Amino acid sequence: MTIKDVFELTEQDARAELAHLASVLGTANLAYHTADAPVMSDAEYDALRRRNQAIEARFPGLKRADSPSDKVGAKVSDGFGKIAHEVRMMSLGNAFSDDDVVEFEQRVRKYLGLRDNEALDLTAEPKIDGLSLSLRYEQGQLVQAATRGDGEVGENVTYNARMISDIPQVLTGAPDILEIRGEVYMRHADFTALNARQVEKGDKVFANPRNAAAGSLRQLDSKITKSRPLHFYAYAWGALSAPLATTQSGAISTMSALGFSVNPLLVLCKNTAEMLAQYALIEAQRASLGYDIDGVVYKVNDLLYQERLGFRSTTPRWAIAHKFPAELAHTWLEDIEIQVGRTGALSPVARLKPVTVGGVVVSNATLHNEDYIAGRDSNGLPIREGRDIRIGDWVEVYRAGDVIPKIRDVDITKRDSDSAPYVFPEICPECGSLATREEGDSVRRCSGGLICPAQAVEKLKHFVSRGAFDIDGLGAKQIEAFFNDDQLPIREPADIFTLATRDGGLLSKLKNRDGWGEISAANLFEAIENKRNIPLNRLIFALGIRHVGDSSAALLAGHFTSWQAFEAILTAAKIGAGDEWDELLGIDGVGAVMAAALVNAFHQDASRASIDRLVAQLQIEDAVAVKNADSPVAGLTVVFTGTLEQMSRAEAKATAEKLGAKVTGSVSAKTDMVIAGPGAGSKAKKAAELGVQVVSEQEWLELTRLNP
Ligand code: IVH
Repeated sequence: MTIKDVFELTEQDARAELAHLASVLGTANLAYHTADAPVMSDAEYDALRRRNQAIEARFPGLKRADSPSDKVGAKVSDGFGKIAHEVRMMSLGNAFSDDDVVEFEQRVRKYLGLRDNEALDLTAEPKIDGLSLSLRYEQGQLVQAATRGDGEVGENVTYNARMISDIPQVLTGAPDILEIRGEVYMRHADFTALNARQVEKGDKVFANPRNAAAGSLRQLDSKITKSRPLHFYAYAWGALSAPLATTQSGAISTMSALGFSVNPLLVLCKNTAEMLAQYALIEAQRASLGYDIDGVVYKVNDLLYQERLGFRSTTPRWAIAHKFPAELAHTWLEDIEIQVGRTGALSPVARLKPVTVGGVVVSNATLHNEDYIAGRDSNGLPIREGRDIRIGDWVEVYRAGDVIPKIRDVDITKRDSDSAPYVFPEICPECGSLATREEGDSVRRCSGGLICPAQAVEKLKHFVSRGAFDIDGLGAKQIEAFFNDDQLPIREPADIFTLATRDGGLLSKLKNRDGWGEISAANLFEAIENKRNIPLNRLIFALGIRHVGDSSAALLAGHFTSWQAFEAILTAAKIGAGDEWDELLGIDGVGAVMAAALVNAFHQDASRASIDRLVAQLQIEDAVAVKNADSPVAGLTVVFTGTLEQMSRAEAKATAEKLGAKVTGSVSAKTDMVIAGPGAGSKAKKAAELGVQVVSEQEWLELTRLNP
């Protein structure tokens, strides 16, 4: 689509474009705020919003009732109680250039009627890229925490906020009513570690630290929030029974004295030159801060001035966010390398001539998959107007707050006339096996299974990961080292156990090595021995069979209860037909794709032999049968809603499943029972409407405890 200058638009064009922008920005807003899964970069979002504002400025009469200019965020998602903010949570207007900042200062001066020689101090501080949170204290006690939501009504995340160590639970010397506002964020190092754990568990990885922070705070199970390291910087306030200070900087000092973390980079500026200097200083430190920021916020320091300036519909007149430009850079694509993962996926990685993107030196970027390189999306439609990416190309690299840089575009005018399209390998570069692409899969995979060293290492890393064997002292780093070690080789899971006991094995050979002493070697030996006894579900998960994550492994274990039964069915099963196949598909939660992957794992010779060698080393603990015919809740479909006071969500779900109930997230005509704790909202209401039985947590416990 060609974009016309706003002044060239006819009224008809403008009306159509405003409708389009309302829809696109509405979807983007929802994806960003409610689903924690952005569909466009912040820079693109800002550009569309500005375009919308420019069109509205030219055609004020066409401004829509649902104009994106009047929206702060998006409606809150279901699942949490709602809290109406006593004082609305505002957004900030944006400045994208030095001129915008100068204009802002002049606007403020004009509004206040200040002459040039009259002082106007402003604070400058980093704009943290996280999610805003409002904390309410009454008589010094933290009583409530709410997300921004749409600015008027947010989500009640009080339990989760209590898990954040930067947030004081009790204050001394605070006003009786005090609402502190600030940003919840995740540090880069914590984000990387969290994503590594998510990968190990086969769970969703987060696109960037902000989404990880949002996903971690908005957890119905606060134990999960507790396990995720979140931080909080205080920078504003809502309702107050007494003022904190007479200036913005004074209020920040008061918050700090009360025990809140405040950003150390806040300074007081006397004019725009000082503001812009602080902007440059903060931008220069951006890459080394250890957390994401996306601009600098300037606020009028005098609180009386702030009060006089007041608010426009969604933003204060006394503050503005000076955004950093999108982190973009251009460089040469020197090579495309293919990495092979645990399930054999071939992932293309761009090797770049090192370039600084937003202060970070980048030499690798993801290229997603072969379609992305070829200039198509997963439906075969053109992306980048069909431009493919070739080795030797001049490419545009960007980091949109993400840790993993991406290649966005390519300049084909700089392309050598003899360059050739990249040919995605059909042979695995690690083991030479055929790499094939199943229909509907955007990923090409190595068919070599365990003979492929790359798959073998990744499978071993999965095998020792948290939800699997979780062997202390044997993590990804050690696995890499042992895999390449000729004297103490670990090439498949069984080796971990045979090596530990073999004559003169682990203990004697390891203790004299670099990085290992007698104690650490003995500890590793003991950790391995401790895991010879393994619950069936962990073993099934550890095998790393495609499509079998930890919850599917638990389902299978609950169904078969013993390794012998599980193995017998998979050995006898044939894909697509027969009693065994039907039995697999009859398990609620197992579909044809997973069933086929399971059968394959037991029918490929190398994979089967490796499983057998492993099992010979283990004592496998039987699982508790899922079908508990004696239990009054066996076979029921139940939904937990509201706050549970005597057990965590995870525990409630696990016990219900142990007793043969199926736990689902939403209430429908198929639901048999809803267990509603305090704060239960729409789900309990829906259950009542549908005539579904609703019981309290206590009633549920009485019902189930009779049948432990
Ligand atoms: S002040 C009334 N200061 O940016 C204005 N906001 O784009 C209150 N943010 O909703 C906000 N760092 O979530 C302020 N130092 C900072 C900030 C900051 C990040 C967020 C906040 C706000 C959003 C607006």
